[in-house]
Amino acid sequence: MPGLTPVEQEVLVYSYFRDAELHGANLLFRLLRHVDDPESQISLTQHLADETRHAWLWTQRIQELGAHPVQVDDGYQKRIGKLAGIPRKIVDLFALTVVVEQRALRRYQQHLRRPDLSERTREVLEAVTKDEAWHIDWIRTKARELAAKAGDLEWVDRAMKTYRAIDEQVMAELDEKERGLGG
Ligand SMILES: [Fe+2]
Ligand SMILES: [Fe+2]
Repeated sequence: MPGLTPVEQEVLVYSYFRDAELHGANLLFRLLRHVDDPESQISLTQHLADETRHAWLWTQRIQELGAHPVQVDDGYQKRIGKLAGIPRKIVDLFALTVVVEQRALRRYQQHLRRPDLSERTREVLEAVTKDEAWHIDWIRTKARELAAKAGDLEWVDRAMKTYRAIDEQVMAELDEKERGLGG
């Protein structure tokens, strides 16, 4: 979509970030229904609160630019879903969540390195990346615990490898798209 103004490009990129956060929250909602131990219920609820807050921070940032969030129909998670489907086994669902979270962190870290970054965007990026370390950590630990319980210690690494290949394919598509925007 060449022909977008710099602000429109910015709004579009933040809309993609917002979309990924909302879809991430949706994935956690699924996990809430599948995991019944009380500790996980607490962690999942806190995690879910973080992701919806992240979506709100991007929404506010877009509003500050005098715009509305752009409807995203082909964002990261939609594309992942198309290729990976929705995992039916809980360990797979956790493994997918780890891969998705790692990608979110990497996208934000990459964006933080942009030379033309505004102070406000930097603030939002720092706020959203701050939570990702514990998200990745607890989800991965829980996935390993569930895999061990199922008697298949390799399960998590195997599933993550599969999802990472899909994630890389999706990111190549998205990068291609973003290059087309000149962003
Ligand atoms: Fe997030
Ligand atoms: Fe996260």
